[in-house]
Amino acid sequence: ADGSILIPVVVNVLYRTTAQNVSAAQIQSQIDVLNADYNALNSDYSSVPALFSPVKASVGVHFVLKSVVRQSTTKTSWSTNDAMKKSAQGGINPTTPDSVLNIWVVGAMSGGVIGYAQFPGGASATDGVVIAYNCFGNTGAAASPFNLGRTATHEVGHWLNLRHIWGDATCGTDYVDDTPFHNAANYGCPSYPHYSTCSGTPVEQTMNYMDYTDDACMYMFTAGQKTRMLATFVSGGGRTLF
Ligand code: ARG
Ligand code: ZN
Ligand code: CA
Repeated sequence: ADGSILIPVVVNVLYRTTAQNVSAAQIQSQIDVLNADYNALNSDYSSVPALFSPVKASVGVHFVLKSVVRQSTTKTSWSTNDAMKKSAQGGINPTTPDSVLNIWVVGAMSGGVIGYAQFPGGASATDGVVIAYNCFGNTGAAASPFNLGRTATHEVGHWLNLRHIWGDATCGTDYVDDTPFHNAANYGCPSYPHYSTCSGTPVEQTMNYMDYTDDACMYMFTAGQKTRMLATFVSGGGRTLF
């Protein structure tokens, strides 16, 4: 399946302010970042430390913008209760979610959340990812340190079944063998090498898209993550083949 998967994307924009009504250029910049990051075409791919070079991978999934749906709202804040995905709750229903990646771009989310995703196997009515407008794409309203489009790279990773690299627990598992154990989430831009205190004190892969580091400091997936993501496209793996 490598290289042959093309995912149509519908971007649903819910805006209260002009800035939240993200431009076509900002939307296309996000599609471009996804295509770069999922195909090892990101300019910082060469920054992956030698230790992790043997496992760094091009996922081989491509994204194409199919359409944009825009709707104004008076809501100042959204939560992770999926209201943005439901017209009855002031949101926008997804477009053909069984064959399209729906992305909702929203104003602010409560609790400082900048994005969230639904894992494979959930209800199709809520399938897709949600991104705050100022963490979306790499131009326009995108604001540092989440201004390189990596929030969507991370969320689409979840949408394709990836767990956080620290397994959401102290030295937890992400069910991927070639990613090291991490004590916990990393933030900001850790200096390299950053050692874990988990068994074997491995060097943590803080530059993996599934950590919590700043956009400028995450730039790789591994071969094991690629295998896990591509499995979701196989019959029975949770998602329809695109
Ligand atoms: N906190 C969000 C999540 O758990 C996304 C974090 C993305 N990080 C970034 N540097 N853009 O899904
Ligand atoms: Zn996450
Ligand atoms: Ca692992």
